[in-house]
Amino acid sequence: MEHKWWHGKTAYQIYPKSFMDSNGDGIGDIRGIIGKLDYLKDLGIDILWLSPIYKSPLADQGYDISDYYDIDPRFGTMEDLDELIAKAKRRGIGIVMDLVVNHCSDEHEWFKKACEDPDGPFGKFFYIEDCKDGKTLPTNWRSYFGGSCWEKLPGHDDKVYLHVFHKKQPDLNWENPLLRKEIYKMINWWLNKGIAGFRIDAIINIKKKLPFSNYPADRDDGLTSMDNMLKEATGIGEFLNEMADETFRKYDAFSVGEVFNEKDSELPLFIGQNGYFSSMFDFSTTNLGQSSEGWHAAGEITANEYRDAIFANHQRVDGIGFLSNIIENHDEPRGVSRYIKAEDLNDHSKKMLAGLYFFLPGIPFIYQGQEIGMENLEHIDNMDQLDDCANANIYETSIAACLSEKEALEVLRKHSRDNARTPFQWSDEEYAGFSSTKPWLLVNPNYKRINLKSQISDSDSIYNFYKKMTALRKDPAYTETLVYGSFTPMHMDIDNLACYKKSADKTIIVYANHQAKDIVLPLDAPLKKILLSNSKDVVYDNYEIHLSGYDLVVCEL
Ligand code: GLC
Ligand code: CA
Repeated sequence: MEHKWWHGKTAYQIYPKSFMDSNGDGIGDIRGIIGKLDYLKDLGIDILWLSPIYKSPLADQGYDISDYYDIDPRFGTMEDLDELIAKAKRRGIGIVMDLVVNHCSDEHEWFKKACEDPDGPFGKFFYIEDCKDGKTLPTNWRSYFGGSCWEKLPGHDDKVYLHVFHKKQPDLNWENPLLRKEIYKMINWWLNKGIAGFRIDAIINIKKKLPFSNYPADRDDGLTSMDNMLKEATGIGEFLNEMADETFRKYDAFSVGEVFNEKDSELPLFIGQNGYFSSMFDFSTTNLGQSSEGWHAAGEITANEYRDAIFANHQRVDGIGFLSNIIENHDEPRGVSRYIKAEDLNDHSKKMLAGLYFFLPGIPFIYQGQEIGMENLEHIDNMDQLDDCANANIYETSIAACLSEKEALEVLRKHSRDNARTPFQWSDEEYAGFSSTKPWLLVNPNYKRINLKSQISDSDSIYNFYKKMTALRKDPAYTETLVYGSFTPMHMDIDNLACYKKSADKTIIVYANHQAKDIVLPLDAPLKKILLSNSKDVVYDNYEIHLSGYDLVVCEL
């Protein structure tokens, strides 16, 4: 495989609104990030992905952009961002911006002009359709946030526009070459600023199945999942290849796609050598337990399912390209709360989960707060405590399925995206040291117990474990093996154990005992060295290794 500058890197996702507030308005901002660059450098971070900070009404927290060339004043100014890019670069950290181009905001100039003149040039930047009787919609697709994906075009009773996400996020019409040209111009404008690349939002949605048509309803609302349309939409590759040619490839930029529903045959095109993207996220665990009925019907995820999903996805891309590995992101509950049994959740098991994913082939992404073991909220008393625009749909779908109000809130407690969006817990001071005033979203009440300050000086802390992991990946003695080594799952017949081998010039095995029970395993060859473990004394001899509950061991053979 041709080596690329991003292959051995460790990435970190910042959700700016919740990372660090520098000016006491309760909202995280760019200057807050600048102030934490040394912290991130020290943690071993090379690539920093910022969730959107562009000008936005924040209907979907910045994923609704009203000006691609400006910064929202709540996050700071363009000068602040230039300073962040420069100061990060000096520390060897590349800034990755979020590229949200499936849709923009309904407050973007383009959409305003489209409303003024739907038949004019900007009308063709969107999907605007006739709806003469005000009732018969072009399709019965359900938007991702619930309800129909069609909304009346402001000022026109006989027209509707398409939004596969929120109604304040009108979809951009990628079939229109003029729109595509505007997008590429904007991408290059940012790349010229010296950013390292982009995380590409919701990209699989840019290709619609045309002409518009209905699919069989899959819930009582008479609507149908967007998946049905996406399965039949072909030809996205032409757009993606053109975008890569016109932008990323010219700059050798890093690009990581938020790609769902890709077909096996498309993998080389997406992330192979000279693919559309440098990498794409491994969402195999994100999808686990999900039900087409909604989050209230989601199942528990077992340790075997977790392992099998991840390993299968890495085998699927083996020899083709690099996945980007996550435990969680801003769209998911906290991974430690989701993938570890509640009664077993502690520092030891959290480190096990960390080690399990961190040495997989590909690029590890740490989501803010993951490195200190941040957890889901413990209670949600009412909807007013929450913020996310996706919550209402989760709640209403639960109520419609005959859950009580209390049970519906419990569904949100487990699955709401707000779990990952509560402010970063820097210390045990008021508001967790995130802000001097009441933050925009509640602080997780567990901040007295879980916070960075208490972990920095504790050599046994989760934070210091993450530091050891990033250091090991950077150790020149092991980089070749950890970054480019072949990947072989091991002991697949043993339940609740995730074990894999990486081999190149060295052979490294990762053991992750994903349960409270002990396991004794035979060794193929004597262990040379324990490189990392969450256990102080790993018991082994030349023939076998003894793993206690939730032990994680990375060793050299
Ligand atoms: C992506 C983002 C998510 C957002 C959606 C619409 O999935 O990660 O936060 O709501 O796209 O832009
Ligand atoms: Ca602020």
